[in-house]
Amino acid sequence: MLVVKDLIKKYGELTAVDNLSLEINRGEFFGLLGPNGAGKTTTIRMINTLTPRTSGLITIDGKSMDRNLTEVKIKIGVVPQHNNLEGEMTAWENLELHGRIYGMPKKARRERIEELLEFTDLTERAADLARTLSGGMKRKLMIARALMHKPELLLLDEPTVGLDAAVRRKMWDLLKNLSSSGLTVLLTTHYIEEAEILCHRVGLMNRGRLIELDTPKNLIEKVGKVVVEYFDNEGTKGEFFETREDALAYAAGRQGNVKIRSSNLEDIFIKLTNRRVED
Ligand SMILES: Nc1ncnc2c1ncn2[C@@H]1O[C@H](COP(=O)(O)OP(=O)(O)O)[C@@H](O)[C@H]1O
Ligand SMILES: [Mg+2]
Repeated sequence: MLVVKDLIKKYGELTAVDNLSLEINRGEFFGLLGPNGAGKTTTIRMINTLTPRTSGLITIDGKSMDRNLTEVKIKIGVVPQHNNLEGEMTAWENLELHGRIYGMPKKARRERIEELLEFTDLTERAADLARTLSGGMKRKLMIARALMHKPELLLLDEPTVGLDAAVRRKMWDLLKNLSSSGLTVLLTTHYIEEAEILCHRVGLMNRGRLIELDTPKNLIEKVGKVVVEYFDNEGTKGEFFETREDALAYAAGRQGNVKIRSSNLEDIFIKLTNRRVED
């Protein structure tokens, strides 16, 4: 559905996005995982045409952004990384404004607002000013707003950053529901667990480059499903194994504090980049 080809963004000397290519299928939940500064937001903003590309192609359903801007843009809903709600407007008015901008008729607006407030559990807060909502509620309102005009592709830039663990979990349920309703989702995150739990496929991004792209399961199998962690005078180290038996055998031969656990996307990231994702 979404095809990104040879996408580059330069800010002077800095290459924020470096030759990124990926294809996202209709109905897929796709994650871009990488540490701060990896180029995730810049990628989202180029897809949403908020930031001009230095070069490269973006098409949605085979139509290029350059030639069919309005037709393509109406298929996209976006939840930016930072809150850009109208704080002095109510939750309802924020949705209403978006519906008007997208030219939705009055009756369709009303129905959609009611449906989305219900879906995001915000019906009781409809008349409250956006600035008075909690962090999690603001984020849900931004998601509702992005969905107002019934987009086919939802771009979510770090949707749970700054939310506490319980609220984050609830947000994951909401996002899973969206995905199972058939929506195509492109999510960026620097939370490993979020990518593992939500995404069908994950692209690992570092310094503007896509360094791996596969299902979480395949990525984990690539490094080895089980890791033995141990401490020596240089710090924590990890050794990867295909099976728990192999890991146990290795651990038995080591002195000191040894821990056996399942490997995760963070391990792969560190192995490929010598960097942590969640810095
Ligand atoms: N408007 C800008 N001007 C200059 N550099 C920028 C601008 N926006 C982002 N960058 C730089 O581009 C790189 C990627 O940033 P960003 O896409 O925000 O990363 P991420 O969202 O993965 O944290 C960073 O080094 C950042 O400092
Ligand atoms: Mg970002």
